Amino acid sequence: MTQVLIFDSGIGGLSVARHIHALLPAAVLTYVADDEFRPYGDKSEAQLNARLPGLLASLEIACQPDVIVIACNTASTTALPAIRAAVNAPVVGVVPAIKPAAQQSLTKSIAVLGTPGTVARAYVDDLISEFASDCAVTLVGSTALVEMAERKLAGGPVDMARLKREIAPIFTPPNGHNIDAVVLACTHFPLLVDELEKSAPHKVAWIDSGAAIARRTKLLLGRAQALEMTAGTSRHNTALLIGPQPSPARRKAFADFGFDRVVALKP
Ligand code: DGL
Repeated sequence: MTQVLIFDSGIGGLSVARHIHALLPAAVLTYVADDEFRPYGDKSEAQLNARLPGLLASLEIACQPDVIVIACNTASTTALPAIRAAVNAPVVGVVPAIKPAAQQSLTKSIAVLGTPGTVARAYVDDLISEFASDCAVTLVGSTALVEMAERKLAGGPVDMARLKREIAPIFTPPNGHNIDAVVLACTHFPLLVDELEKSAPHKVAWIDSGAAIARRTKLLLGRAQALEMTAGTSRHNTALLIGPQPSPARRKAFADFGFDRVVALKP
């Protein structure tokens, strides 16, 4: 049986898990949400590097995954080398989709919408130099959107006026009216794509890395294992929440994404 461990600070990684589930339907997925330390986007590099390698090493011992997916841009752009050094399984990280956005943009004006941490990382600057040097790139960081996605999946309303304010810096002069592609460089944000579409002043492509991560996961698992994964064997996908018990609505959100067992690690 093939086991995949998917990790994020909260529900954001579900936007990646749905692609992994679609591509590898018989893999057993364990999803871990680090609720008690969220949001990652306002934590320092030192704080994330102090927490994540040890946490992932413990989760590897507990879950014995064949591959670990860090379904979080903030963690991936900050702590991937340290996580890889701490675990035995291969690790797939999220790379913000700057390359496809730059390729797709006709106006050569793109934006990267991530957490404040991600948009400040040297990793993102390097991706821009390598793949988007022919583009004007606007960087926008938001922590509020992370909590809005959390609230939405916990059954709450989305504050559209607030969301509009959060994305307004993308569309301000001098480049705002030209932008035709926005990189969703936080895995929480694809969960708000309908609301983002409604709030943008003009049509843009919203681009995330979910499908690419699923393809990379399949590749790392290897062809032989992938071929095994066709039978409809009985299995449970489990979500472990590092934090308090979820509300019934949050539990349902995990179930809607295929995680029929939800276990909270705190009473
Ligand atoms: N979903 C995460 C990301 O992709 C982290 C959000 C947060 O905890 O700030 O960056």
